[in-house]
Amino acid sequence: MNIILLGAPGAGKGTQATKLVDKYQIPHISTGDIFRYNIKNQTPIGVVAKSYIDKGQLVPDEVTVEIVKQRLNEKDVEVGYLLDGFPRNIFQAEELDKFATIDKVIDISVNLDKLLKRITGRRVCSKCGESYHVDTLNGVTTCSRCGADLIQRADDNEATVEKRLTVYKEQTAPLIDYYKKAGKLVTVDGDKAIDEVFNSIVEILG
Ligand code: AP5
Repeated sequence: MNIILLGAPGAGKGTQATKLVDKYQIPHISTGDIFRYNIKNQTPIGVVAKSYIDKGQLVPDEVTVEIVKQRLNEKDVEVGYLLDGFPRNIFQAEELDKFATIDKVIDISVNLDKLLKRITGRRVCSKCGESYHVDTLNGVTTCSRCGADLIQRADDNEATVEKRLTVYKEQTAPLIDYYKKAGKLVTVDGDKAIDEVFNSIVEILG
């Protein structure tokens, strides 16, 4: 099954994706993770991506679409895949329709007022990318999956998050209607606890 996880910054896409790929054993394709990998390794794509991500803006479509197109040509996606953070606007969705067939779009819907707290309190593993929140870490500073140090993402500061939320409202939220019209959208209540959200998604996917 080819799935898209849709949702605002901090809605829980990455958190749910980690659990879903463990359960369904399909590749997790996160454009945000791909950009962060390239930034860390100082590749030409990383240099371009950083200049946009630091400002809370979307990386240009021509860069992003090409990355996903190439990734979906790899052999491991034959079993299905989970797209997280792509598409991000109508243009990307239309491009995706030209080279992929999506079965379901799961929209993780969260009250936007909660997102700032979720994102600014997020800590991520510097090695495997696992996501945590300071409220539940109880002072722990290492990853429970791989033991590496937890860090704060460079774009998780208040000013950048506010810009990211504006970009979401203007450019990404219209995808809800796009996929509703295509008969592919299912919405889950992302305000619930992490395991409850996961169970709702599993119920949908079967
Ligand atoms: P990306 O990495 O995709 O970031 P994002 O969409 O802003 O989403 P986040 O990773 O911030 O949130 P999430 O929904 O994964 O939440 P998480 O599970 O971590 O993109 C980063 C940047 O890259 C973009 O701004 C853009 O510049 C660029 N980019 C990426 N894709 C692009 C594209 N297609 N086109 C152009 N540019 C692109 O959870 C957040 C926190 O909440 C965590 O602390 C977690 O523990 C907690 N939490 C999660 N679920 C719950 C719950 N149910 N209850 C309580 N707490 C929860």
